[in-house]
Amino acid sequence: MDKKVYELINDQINKELYSAYLYMQFADYYKENGLNGFANWYEIQAQEERDHALIFRKYLHENGEHVELLAIEKPDKSFNNFLEPLEAGLAHEKYVTGLINDIYAAAEKAKDYRAMKFLDWFIEEQQEEEDNAMTMIDQMKLFGSDPKGLYDLDRENQARVYNVPSPLANA
Ligand code: FEO
Repeated sequence: MDKKVYELINDQINKELYSAYLYMQFADYYKENGLNGFANWYEIQAQEERDHALIFRKYLHENGEHVELLAIEKPDKSFNNFLEPLEAGLAHEKYVTGLINDIYAAAEKAKDYRAMKFLDWFIEEQQEEEDNAMTMIDQMKLFGSDPKGLYDLDRENQARVYNVPSPLANA
């Protein structure tokens, strides 16, 4: 595998695990403030991020490459209201989209068509993640300042269930 593509993919395992940490922190914030539904939503999001790390790890294994696990940074955000984690979530997903695009660009430069095909799933996934983050912000702005509205949003987020992502489902 091209050295640059390898390095970026190996690094992405760490970035995805950091994302899981970050969303665990969001879940803790909501849990500690009585919004168990939002906590559930981010608990599942954290699980999905760990899955993303596992997908990249699996790809390296399947291509005979060494996986080097790196130290995970401490998530150190603090929040003053229920909207702030949601906005931080969107900013983070945009950052991750940029990382995926960088890997894709490196793969394209190296004519690594297998990696490009592999990354297609993540390109779609990032669109979905940004879309979810934007929807959560819009809903919080629209309904979050009303106690009944916030209660309903929390109930809705409580309904989110975990699904194994397709690249791991047939592992
Ligand atoms: Fe792994 Fe939220 O992107």
